[in-house]
Amino acid sequence: MGKLTGKTAIITGATKGMGRAIAKLFSEEGANVVLAGRDNTAGHEVEYGIRNKGGKALFVHTDVSLPEDNTRLVNLTIEEFGSVDIVVANAGMLGLGSITSVSPEIWKKTLDTNLNSVYHLLREAIPYMQKNENGGTVVVTGSIAAHKGFPNHAAYNASKGAVQALVKQAAVDYGPEIRINLIQPGPVDTELYRSSAVAFPNAETILDEVPGSLPLKRVGTPLDIAKAALFLASDDSSWITGTVLTVDGGASAKG
Ligand SMILES: NC(=O)c1ccc[n+]([C@@H]2O[C@H](COP(=O)([O-])OP(=O)(O)OC[C@H]3O[C@@H](n4cnc5c(N)ncnc54)[C@H](O)[C@@H]3O)[C@@H](O)[C@H]2O)c1
Repeated sequence: MGKLTGKTAIITGATKGMGRAIAKLFSEEGANVVLAGRDNTAGHEVEYGIRNKGGKALFVHTDVSLPEDNTRLVNLTIEEFGSVDIVVANAGMLGLGSITSVSPEIWKKTLDTNLNSVYHLLREAIPYMQKNENGGTVVVTGSIAAHKGFPNHAAYNASKGAVQALVKQAAVDYGPEIRINLIQPGPVDTELYRSSAVAFPNAETILDEVPGSLPLKRVGTPLDIAKAALFLASDDSSWITGTVLTVDGGASAKG
């Protein structure tokens, strides 16, 4: 029996990167997985890949920044699987720029995608989770950017700081039925990470320099994050809520 057998998990940003790794691992641990994302081709690829291995998966085209898409996502999950037990709010975008260089449109889009989406999704999912005999668990993907400035990451860092505060607040409001925790990744090798290089003065070399700068001498893999998400979503973390699990190869320890 898997750690998530009988549970249904919604995972946003599940078409690639960390979200895809989380969906695959959760399915291997017995969960029904609902994959939320905007890329139909990639979404169905992940969906069929999981089904071909005997898992239960449903891709739902979702733009997490839109309230109505979050409503539809939760409704379709209930229709297909009958409950929502786990939510992984993972989708994110960079929206690069400093306060003076980022446009108001990108600022808003970044906050809508990284922060407001968590509000919209949990607003829909929590009432269902409260009806479950065993409540539910929520895992949100934050970032070490919540407590560390990076060049030209104004909207991103603001959104990740706010989402950390929201997680702590929700833990207070929804315990003991629902546990909600934040994963705080450091540099993890995904498309988003690689596209962040342009924000740095040493854009040409930074991706080569990062691994050696970390105490653990490598950047993270999506699976490193998926394992942390599994811990926080499963009963292995049954006395943990409102906390931040930093998974960063030691980046924060270095200051
Ligand atoms: N990779 C890193 O180094 C790193 C570090 C810290 C935090 N994070 C966070 O991890 C999370 C996952 O990112 P990743 O690194 O796997 O990157 P990724 O680019 O591989 O995946 C991000 C996913 O979010 C989706 N997404 C973005 N906007 C969306 C929207 N409006 N609606 C639906 N889906 C949307 C993308 O399509 C993609 O599937 C993000 O929240 C990111 O901020 C990443």
